[in-house]
Amino acid sequence: MTDLLETRAIGQDLVRRDGEAKVRGTAPYAFEADVDTPAYCHPVQATVARGRITSIDTSATEAVEGVLTVLTNLGAERLAKTDDAELAILQDDAIAFRGQLIGVVVADTSETARQAADLVRVEYEESEFDVELSADRDDLYKPEKINPSYPTDTAQGDVDAAMAAAAVTVEQTYTTAMNHNNPIEPHTTTALWDASGAGTLTLWDSTQSVHGVRRVISGVFGIDPEQVHVICPYIGGGFGSKGTPHANVVLAAMAARAVPGRAVRLALTRQQMFFLAGYRTPTIQRMQLGADRDGRLSAIALDVVEQTSRIKEFAEQTGMPTRTMYAAPNRRTTHRLAALDVPVPSWMRAPGECPGMFGPEVAMDELAEALGIDPIDLRLRNEPDVDPDSGKPWSSRLLVRCLQEGAERFGWSERGAGRQRDGQWLVGTGMACSIYPVYRQAKSTVTIRFEDGRYVAEIGAADLGTGAWTVLPQITADALGVPVEHVEARIGDTRYPFATVAGGSSGTSTWGTAAVEAAKAFREKFGTDPADGDETDGEVGTAAKDDEHAAFAFGAQFAEARVNVDTGEIRVPRLLGVFDVGRIINPRLARSQLIGGMTMGLSMALHENSVMDPRLGQVVNHDLADYHVAANADVGDIEAVWLDVPDPYANAMGSKGIGEIGITGTAAAVSNAVHHATGVRVRDLPITLDKVLAELP
Ligand code: MOS
Repeated sequence: MTDLLETRAIGQDLVRRDGEAKVRGTAPYAFEADVDTPAYCHPVQATVARGRITSIDTSATEAVEGVLTVLTNLGAERLAKTDDAELAILQDDAIAFRGQLIGVVVADTSETARQAADLVRVEYEESEFDVELSADRDDLYKPEKINPSYPTDTAQGDVDAAMAAAAVTVEQTYTTAMNHNNPIEPHTTTALWDASGAGTLTLWDSTQSVHGVRRVISGVFGIDPEQVHVICPYIGGGFGSKGTPHANVVLAAMAARAVPGRAVRLALTRQQMFFLAGYRTPTIQRMQLGADRDGRLSAIALDVVEQTSRIKEFAEQTGMPTRTMYAAPNRRTTHRLAALDVPVPSWMRAPGECPGMFGPEVAMDELAEALGIDPIDLRLRNEPDVDPDSGKPWSSRLLVRCLQEGAERFGWSERGAGRQRDGQWLVGTGMACSIYPVYRQAKSTVTIRFEDGRYVAEIGAADLGTGAWTVLPQITADALGVPVEHVEARIGDTRYPFATVAGGSSGTSTWGTAAVEAAKAFREKFGTDPADGDETDGEVGTAAKDDEHAAFAFGAQFAEARVNVDTGEIRVPRLLGVFDVGRIINPRLARSQLIGGMTMGLSMALHENSVMDPRLGQVVNHDLADYHVAANADVGDIEAVWLDVPDPYANAMGSKGIGEIGITGTAAAVSNAVHHATGVRVRDLPITLDKVLAELP
């Protein structure tokens, strides 16, 4: 249905257009916005997990030289919109989680603000709190939908009957840890109200969506969206934690309004990010597989328990991949939530698909073992002809090719039946599959203008390090039929047309579609010899939309694990991913996304674990010293390859998203490799040495 573009720039291995500015340190980030004599602010956070503030004494804070103002619930402005409890800060005395924002100090320097914030004296009336997730709580509830708007539960056939009749079954519970996003650039904002404090608000904010920040913040402050100008040319990573504005953005805007005409900078500290930037919920995954002796699945079910905050619901869509991955006539997925006195969970790279490909893909490995079938063969035998969930044909599903090519490249056939030993190291290999939906958002606009002999493409999109600065010119150039050097992109500013969030791996697909529409409209209107100033828009909505097919990206991931027989130390010297991600717009940037996702998956597999202390009601390892993210020494040889077969239905470029698929399935591949190496089945992430040590030979 979509015409694939004549590709010349698309597919080229172009370097990042923003690379040089970033490497030289000249690319301005939100905290570095060029403003006159900025003030700085530092948040005050609740030190109890639940209760209410009975008194706040700011006298010592106000006495510090250089302090401009202190805001608390007593004096802060009343916000216009308070329905989003995460954002309704400083509005009353209630404390809903430890670390909640309860004040802010604005001062001439960041050091002064921080020191003075320490001097705020707060007394509380504490209440009982509850931060412990478990599957046997009696207050688990069924959310109305799961993120962003999928059905909470699905059912086909009769899983219980099929399980009872199955020749072989796997029934196990798997858990994934709470994980926190740790982009290198913290959540930062520079905020400036015009001198009246009533007119326009300028926000230099580290965000995946300048238009999203405009919409939300204008609503919270009750002003016209046009009065909020959001600027974000560069982002030092987000992974979803900057996909929606969190309370820090509201706090920065409130602080700046208290000193109108003066810009105020706010950068969350690394520790504060563990309370305020969203996080991935821990999940408890009750998994059931039933199959005949040949490995044909008759039943597949996943019942998920996870947490949300008592003040705001976020329901991770952990069961989504199970709805789609494999054929089986009897199937069920359910999601139940515990509402706890904890910070609000949110997006983290592949919310749903990432944790949701752990339990099921380890369960498949367990089933293969029980049947004595190779885990790749087991998957080949359960390849669905159509999407089992929607019944629609696939736009393209080249998972079988990914599995075959991956097996060949990885040397899967040389895999021994049991564990191998290399000195003090037990060595094994494992595999798992990857999946991520292909999203194209409905709304986004590109303006193309002919200016000074070249084409300018403007859109209020964001490049969170993924490559939008570079790939949008590639797509636009091909759609216009001109060399890529003749196209300049302008993004990261609400002065440019509306764009959806850089999230859900949908940016390139969505904005690229708008660029293609704009190019077509431009050529129709002005031909191939335009005059300076000729300009026209293109919108996603005008492009043909395919609703007849189920569109997903797929992949096969392979891992080698080495486990020290004396210490239990786990190393992963080798990861390989083979992906069906449609046409690749830019191989250099695609590789970076895919190996980045796999690295984050490795990190989830072995390291990342936000430890909730139920006595305190907080994550206690809330810094990068104690919350370990995979570093160079943890990462071996990571290779990502792709089939580069265009998807004929996804969009005009034939591309699928690549930002998130790389993290899905990695942890299962690692766990399966650890099992192959040691015989120990680790069903709880992360796979730390204490979980294997006792059972090593
Ligand atoms: Mo990503 S979690 O969709 O920003």
